[in-house]
Amino acid sequence: MQIKIAKDYAEMSRLAADMISRLIEDRPDAVLGLATGSTPVGLYEELVKRHKAGLDFSRVTTFNLDEYYGLHGEHPASYNYYMWEHLFGKINISQEKVNLPNGAAPDPEEECRRYEDKIAAAGGIDLQILGIGSNAHIGFNEPGTPFGSVTSLVKLAPATIQANARFFEREEDVPRKAFSMGIKSIMRCRSIVLLANGEGKADAVAAAVQGPVTEEVPASVLQLHPNCTFILDEAAAKKLSC
Ligand code: F6R
Repeated sequence: MQIKIAKDYAEMSRLAADMISRLIEDRPDAVLGLATGSTPVGLYEELVKRHKAGLDFSRVTTFNLDEYYGLHGEHPASYNYYMWEHLFGKINISQEKVNLPNGAAPDPEEECRRYEDKIAAAGGIDLQILGIGSNAHIGFNEPGTPFGSVTSLVKLAPATIQANARFFEREEDVPRKAFSMGIKSIMRCRSIVLLANGEGKADAVAAAVQGPVTEEVPASVLQLHPNCTFILDEAAAKKLSC
């Protein structure tokens, strides 16, 4: 696991954008895994800037980590909506190459199978962007999720519902379930870049990097990945002992 400490959020976002830009320049048909939430907003702004300066997304394929269950893709709090607002609507990606779980899928089990199969058919993910929950979840894989899990319909932890209430009018409106790529689906990605900023993530980052590898700390599994980089701002790195 490689750790890069950026001086602030802007630098963290630029470093992550550098890694994605380099990948796309080397491999124009790269397969990216993407995350939502507050953390990658700056990364997406950087990618939009780089697109305006010539970075070509026309052959890139993307898979998002997760989507709320029960929300239609047009719902303003859905991750589909977020991705079009922050990134896809501002770059030259082709709509057919964009993939998220369908939150409104009538048969959740079938939807999970479809998603895993589609990732496999695309040849797997070259670079997966992750955020981290303050409980160290990755995707919506909450503490206790088996490391062998693949894409599934999962229950959100109370801490996650509370943390994500800011994107909804009321906490009661936050869906209680979501589709999420599993830990095993994430570990299959050829490279992983986890971003974390702010003091609120410092304990989770320290547990993930320096604690024991345990299903109680989902992000700790990344210690076992052969090509994983954490890009942290100083506040998120504060509790690391080295
Ligand atoms: C989002 C996701 C989540 C977030 C995490 C941190 O697609 O999979 O694991 O990365 O909850 O969220 P923020 O960035 O809002 O602090």
